[in-house]
Amino acid sequence: MKIGIDLVSFHAPAYFLDLRILAGKREVDPEKFVVGIGQERMAVVPPDQDIVTLAANAALPIVEKAGRENIELLLFATESGIDQSKAAACFCHKLLGLPSACRCLEVKEACYGATAALRLAAAMVAARPQSKALVLAADIARYDLASPGEPTQGAGAVAMLVAAHPRVLALDPEAGFHTEDIMDFWRPNYREEALVDGKYSTRMYLTTLIEAWNNYKAASSRGLPDHAHYCFHLPFTKIAYKSYARLCKADGVAEPPKEELERLVDYALRYNRQTGNTYAACVYEAFCSLLDNAPAALDDQRIGFFSYGSGCMAEFFSGVVQRGYRAHLFADQHRAQLDVRVPVTYRQYEDIFNYGVPRDGADHVFAPYRGGPFRLAGIKDHKRRYETK
Ligand code: CAA
Repeated sequence: MKIGIDLVSFHAPAYFLDLRILAGKREVDPEKFVVGIGQERMAVVPPDQDIVTLAANAALPIVEKAGRENIELLLFATESGIDQSKAAACFCHKLLGLPSACRCLEVKEACYGATAALRLAAAMVAARPQSKALVLAADIARYDLASPGEPTQGAGAVAMLVAAHPRVLALDPEAGFHTEDIMDFWRPNYREEALVDGKYSTRMYLTTLIEAWNNYKAASSRGLPDHAHYCFHLPFTKIAYKSYARLCKADGVAEPPKEELERLVDYALRYNRQTGNTYAACVYEAFCSLLDNAPAALDDQRIGFFSYGSGCMAEFFSGVVQRGYRAHLFADQHRAQLDVRVPVTYRQYEDIFNYGVPRDGADHVFAPYRGGPFRLAGIKDHKRRYETK
């Protein structure tokens, strides 16, 4: 029985900062950001949006299209948690009007969380083929102002309906994974911004890619020619090119010419270039970008995925795009929401970055900004209050 992604939808905040503006402010050559790391814009999250509203906004088109019946599991992958106890999934469960007979929980292992959630969801569906799972991944990537990580900030969310007989992607059962206890990127509870050893993290990403790849090859007997396209975790899009080059080197094959390399990885980079790092959502945002932007139909083609979570956990896996998948995409909505985003000035970016919500539990009301149907209206009695516009 095929199990996999039945529907997938992506949501980005309605504001962005052009990285050329940031480069000017930091006195850096803009080409470093646009070409050197491969990022054009970073999503800016207005104060009345958080991971809950971003994820619910991503999921609404799915539940409106597929219905809410038989969704027995709601998993929320994030490393931008809003509460130490309550799962962000519980808030989304209410906003989305899901059945009460549904397990809700939050999953964390840095940017790997959504892949863990996808695997758990697929396992539940394998055991109960009539059931469905909704996997949400949402993050807000924050580094210190003027730090090397700053131009790789971003935000966004992806929602995936996991079901038997999926309409978009059937997951292959084989996967290669690898874990190590390292400190390449982390965020202690007392900090809003992540700490990162940037060069070390990039080195570990590429090293564990090969570990996971070798394990995947051993498990599946597949190699590079078996995959039509690749979706890599994208802390910045340039890493996709470095990753494919590493796979070629590991397998002792020459790197393909530039056009072929672009065909293999570039369609998957389009959205992430516009949003920046979306942490847990990254790989699946890349998948949306590939599905929406590949000019030729991907029916029956096998896609290779690499998911990396600092700390660290790495997994290489694959899936086959299902025949007729194009009828089940949200491509027009994805493009439209990116097209109508509003640019912010450097001053507005910094103001939003420094916007302080009371930390002593005092009540707070959020002014309305542009965004999807769900927003964070305020905090009262230490409780977040969400509303539907
Ligand atoms: N024109 C064109 N290219 C230029 C340039 C110019 N004027 N100036 C510099 N470049 C190139 C450099 O040659 C370099 O390219 P290569 O890597 O191919 O050599 C690239 O731009 C970046 O330059 P630097 O290495 O000097 O950049 P940096 O030291 O400022 O930092 C970074 C880069 C380490 C990625 C930093 O942005 C960072 O710390 N980011 C956050 C951490 C991160 O993203 N880690 C990735 C792996 S961890 C992970 O994947 C989990 C996660 O999501 C966080």
